[in-house]
Formats: sequence, structure tokens, C-alpha cells
Amino acid sequence: MSAPAQHGKTEPLKASTTVLIGAQWGDEGKGKWIDSLAADAELVVRYQGGNNAGHTLYVDGKKIVLHQLPSGIFHDGQVSALAAGVVVNPAQLVIEMERAAEFGVTLHPSRLWLSGRAHVITPWHVYLDEQRESRSHGAIGTTKRGIGPTYSDKASRSGLRLGHFVNETSRKRWLQQMRELHPEFNKVLSDRHEAWAAFEAAAARLAPFVTDAETHIRTAVAAGKKVLLEGAQGALLDIDHGTYPFVTSSTTGSAGACQSIGLAPRHIGACIGIAKGYVTRVGAGPFPTELHDEVGKSLATKGQEFGATTGRPRRVGWLDAVALRYVVDVNGLSGVILNKMDILTGLKEVKIAVAYRHPTAGELTSMPWDTEVLEACQPVYETMPGWSEDIPRSGKIADLPAAARHFVAEVERHIGAPVIMVGTGPNRGDALYR
Ligand code: GDP
Ligand code: IMO
Ligand code: MG
Repeated sequence: MSAPAQHGKTEPLKASTTVLIGAQWGDEGKGKWIDSLAADAELVVRYQGGNNAGHTLYVDGKKIVLHQLPSGIFHDGQVSALAAGVVVNPAQLVIEMERAAEFGVTLHPSRLWLSGRAHVITPWHVYLDEQRESRSHGAIGTTKRGIGPTYSDKASRSGLRLGHFVNETSRKRWLQQMRELHPEFNKVLSDRHEAWAAFEAAAARLAPFVTDAETHIRTAVAAGKKVLLEGAQGALLDIDHGTYPFVTSSTTGSAGACQSIGLAPRHIGACIGIAKGYVTRVGAGPFPTELHDEVGKSLATKGQEFGATTGRPRRVGWLDAVALRYVVDVNGLSGVILNKMDILTGLKEVKIAVAYRHPTAGELTSMPWDTEVLEACQPVYETMPGWSEDIPRSGKIADLPAAARHFVAEVERHIGAPVIMVGTGPNRGDALYR
């Protein structure tokens, strides 16, 4: 299905291979942007995370939330792929494939490549996630989708890969091995029999799509095809470079794309980050610019800040330029998309954090590695006048009201990267360009 004409134009992707990541704590609007930019791509690859993601897009005015499929799936002629670094919930993936079919997307093995190397989320992993999150101390506020336990089993070399999942003999062997390893496994098998039945049923449906996705992707890159590498979650949720332990269990940053696909860094032409004009976070963990006042409430209401996966209310705060500069540096971002700028319209004043103040260490101008230090930090703000004029839905960044242009210029100055596009609404093409 190609983009209907009323959706506005999409600026062409400049590099052959572009990585698009969330530049905050997730939910920056990756779904909408991948869907918009995919109009210009031949292949869209999701490279990490699982159905903890919730990517919202609108196709022909209808809302769709994707958890497992890449957000480029709604374009004709493109190939979509899940690479080795992804974790797959098979039953959820089948549901989404059926949903896509209702939207007229015919999924054929030639246009959906599922990596045989990707690890599988099972009802056992979901059970473990729920158990860990029910602790009275130390809960992360996960999505309870089994993400952490699946990546843990992968690292401890007892996981189930998608290629083995779709093979009945290998799948049974894995189940037997888990029974022997874990005394509670049998109980989880019988307590969650419906989930296990859906899990088993998905194997035959997914089998035709399981392939050596990484080799196909490398071949496409070598042939000079336009490729979009889609991150899930956000750079501050990265297992190494995020606010550990309040992170997800994968490499959400741009380097994760290379590792997941087995694609050398020299093939990456551009890394682009998506950030909101403010910040949200779901789950626990430090958040220096979090707002607990009326402004925060109004941003949450106007921005409809509820989790697309769990429905939890998102915590809301001012744009944190210290954290965003850190993300620009860690991920080599050549540009940032400043999304949901329409939500800031109508505020008397707008703020960005340009430093942190720590009770003993004083003023910090860079993001501390220690989450406890970050927890104790207060933001140092630059305050600017807001704007009340509606911002245009499409056109140029130069068409923004003067105060909004000033806001964008200050963000650029503080993060050390250009704002290349601005988001003005939830639909394809609701965007301003340079
Ligand atoms: P993702 O996880 O990064 O794909 O983001 P989510 O889908 O979880 O959350 C982003 C939300 O903002 C969704 O409800 C989108 O429909 C909406 N959205 C995306 N871009 C814009 C924008 O520029 N303006 C407004 N008002 N909403 C947007
Ligand atoms: P998208 O792709 C926002 C958060 C959870 C929790 C932490 C760990 O829609 O941006 P996990 O279930 O991954 O073990 O949870 O990460 N989290 C997200 N927050 N958007 C997401 O995805 C998220 N995926 C995970 O809330 O704090
Ligand atoms: Mg989301």
C-alpha cells in the first residue's frame, strides 16, 4: 500500500543505509517516522527489542500499533526484516501479520525475512519477567513481555532461536532441556497452557518466513539499495549506555544495528535520532527534568502520553539537552528529528535543561555514568518565551513561529547536532523540513 497523496511529502533519505534510533527513553515517535521515511526505502530492518515496543502509525487515517513487525511494512514493494538482535514473541508476530493482511498488506516470504538467529520469547520468559517485577524492591517497571529473561537466556547460551523454534524436533528438544534445568518449568507449562498453545501454533505459520536474513540484508546493502535500520526503545534505555539498571536488555543505540545484522560500521551512511520537544519515560529510573506540576499534566494530556504497549501513563518533563547531547555523541547522530513540537504550542514559556546541579559535585555539564548520581541531580534550565500561533503541519522549519525557531536553534546549540526535521502531528508527512 503506497502513501496516499494527502499525507504530504517525505524528504528523500540521503544515505543508502540509515539507522534511525529513539534518542530519549522511548516513544519518541519512531513508528510514524519510520513509516514516513520508508516511502523512500527498499528494505526496512528492525534490529533489536521485541514486543516491549509499541510503535504507533496511521495508515489511511486508521491507527495501528506495531510491537513486533518493522514500521515500514505498510508500503508496497518494500522488504521488511527482523535481524538476529531482535527477540520474537511468535504468537504476537502472527497476530500482527494477520492485522497487516486486514490492511491489504500481503506478506510473502520474499518480502518478510525473519532471522533464524533471532531469539524467541516463550511463556516461560514472560513468567520470569512477571516474577522479577513482583519483587518489593528493585523492580524496573518493565513491560512484562519477557524481554530481560529472553536476552539473559541468549547470553547464558540456553535460549531458543527462531530457526530452531520452527523446527518441531529442535523445539521439543529445547522444551525437554528446560524441564531438566528448571524445577518450576512443568508448572508453568500447565498453568499457561493457552499461551503455550498459541506459541506452538505460531511455528508452522512463521516457518516459511524464517531465513538467513542477515546475508540477504548484506547483499541488499552491497547492491546499493536504500536501507532503513529501525531501532526500538531509546538510546537512554541501552543496556550499556543507558541509565542502568533502569534500561531494557538490548543494544538500542546505533551500533546495535551493526552487531545485530553483522554489518560492518563502514556501511552505515547516517545515524539519525528522534527526540520529542519534551521528554517522556515509562517505568522506573532517574529523570532529572520530570514535571509534577500543571505544565507536566497538560503536556501529558495534550500529547496523549500513555504507553502504546502497556497503557501506563508516561512520566513527562522538559527537554533534557544534557542527555540528548550525550546520545548524539554515543550514537554519532548526524541529525535529530524534533518530534511533537505541536504539543508545545500554547505554553507561556518553554524550557530546556542545559546542565545538572548535584548536591556535592556541583554543576555537571555532561551526563554522569552513575544512575545514583543522576538521581540526585537537579536540572539547570534555559527558559524561553513560548508561542501561541499554530505551527504549520507541513512545509519548512523556517515557517515556524519565531519563538519556536528560537527553541529549535537553542536545542541545536546545546546538543551539537542539527535539527533536520520537526514533527507536527501523528500522520505520515506531518513534518517540517530544512
Ligand atoms: P514510538 O514508540 O517511538 O513509535 O512512539 P509511540 O507510538 O509509542 O508514541 C508516540 C505517540 O505520539 C503516538 O501516539 C503517535 O501517534 C504520536 N505522534 C507521533 N508524532 C507526533 C507528532 O509530531 N505530533 C503529535 N501530536 N503526535 C505525534
Ligand atoms: P518503544 O519502542 C518506552 C522500558 C520499560 C522499562 C524498561 C525495561 O515503543 O519506544 P523491558 O520490558 O524492555 O524489559 O522494560 O524499558 N521500555 C520502553 N519504554 N518505549 C518502549 O518501546 C519501551 N520498551 C521498554 O518501560 O522502563
Ligand atoms: Mg512506543
